[in-house]
Amino acid sequence: MSTSQVQFHDLHTTRDEFVDDVLQGLARRPASIPPKYFYDARGSKLFDAITELPEYYQTRTEIEMLKRNAAEIARRVGTGSLLVEPGGGSCAKVHILLEGLQPRAYVPMDISHEHLRIAAEELAIAFPWLEIHAACTDYTKEMALPPSAPRGTHVAFFPGSSIGNFDPAGAVDFLDSIAELLGPEGYLLIGVDLKKDRALLEAAYDDAAGVTAQFNLNLLQRINRELGGDFALEHWQHKAIYNDMAGRIEMHLVSMLDQQVKIAGNTYSFARGETIHTENSYKYTTDEFIELAARSGFVSEQVWVDDNALFSVHLFRVQQGHASD
Ligand code: TRP
Repeated sequence: MSTSQVQFHDLHTTRDEFVDDVLQGLARRPASIPPKYFYDARGSKLFDAITELPEYYQTRTEIEMLKRNAAEIARRVGTGSLLVEPGGGSCAKVHILLEGLQPRAYVPMDISHEHLRIAAEELAIAFPWLEIHAACTDYTKEMALPPSAPRGTHVAFFPGSSIGNFDPAGAVDFLDSIAELLGPEGYLLIGVDLKKDRALLEAAYDDAAGVTAQFNLNLLQRINRELGGDFALEHWQHKAIYNDMAGRIEMHLVSMLDQQVKIAGNTYSFARGETIHTENSYKYTTDEFIELAARSGFVSEQVWVDDNALFSVHLFRVQQGHASD
């Protein structure tokens, strides 16, 4: 790896923001904490473990679909592009596309500093011809490309159904900012989890080995560690339920008894059964998602669904002359 092959830009969230978000979120009823704080070093590792669980069908299904359709994706999008991946901290799925796509440069953006740096360096070794401009940034806030990134047809890659972690209005705002970053004629390749049987969905977010539970509880450990909180982990339990009306999986941490928690001089009371809402994961039919993306000026080029109708991969193009250009 040449020293100039990987450029690293650090724009990540500050500790002040973490404190503010946690204190405000815990004061609210129902209490909630933004899911982006799951991803400290341990959280990112646990998340990688989730993607390998038997119950978590999403990752392997999507990888299979990307492999099967990589040549066609490359044919449609063309070579020499600027490939941008918001949340691409583990640089894992992009491997599948690089050989065929032959982009001019790859820009992974992620909130988890170490995770991103290590993954970018590993990727540089596997693909010595690839220029990498890694940006440590919170993509829910900041979508600018690093100033050093070269030009080329912009292609955004947003796998893993991370779009489902926004509520639908937030997803449209996010897609707006992607459309703006891409410019007219840019492409978006995005993985979206499909609506399906409740039991399959709930198992995917509450695995038998308890890894997802650890991932959820790690948020409280992180607050204890980084903000001096005193959460008693044994008094909180992971819960995942499918909310049919809203079309989303909800993850919560349930208080097992009446208790108080102290963080940075503030005390919060939780009754037995009360929850901290930590994440939503919205599910969309292919039509619902095409309609949602159209609100941000995206035109559907193609949609792939696996044989078991578990997961979808969409290719969109920014509509020429859309208002956000
Ligand atoms: N976006 C993915 C999903 O909603 C990944 C994810 C985010 C996730 N948070 C999670 C998976 C918590 C399991 C548990 O499925």
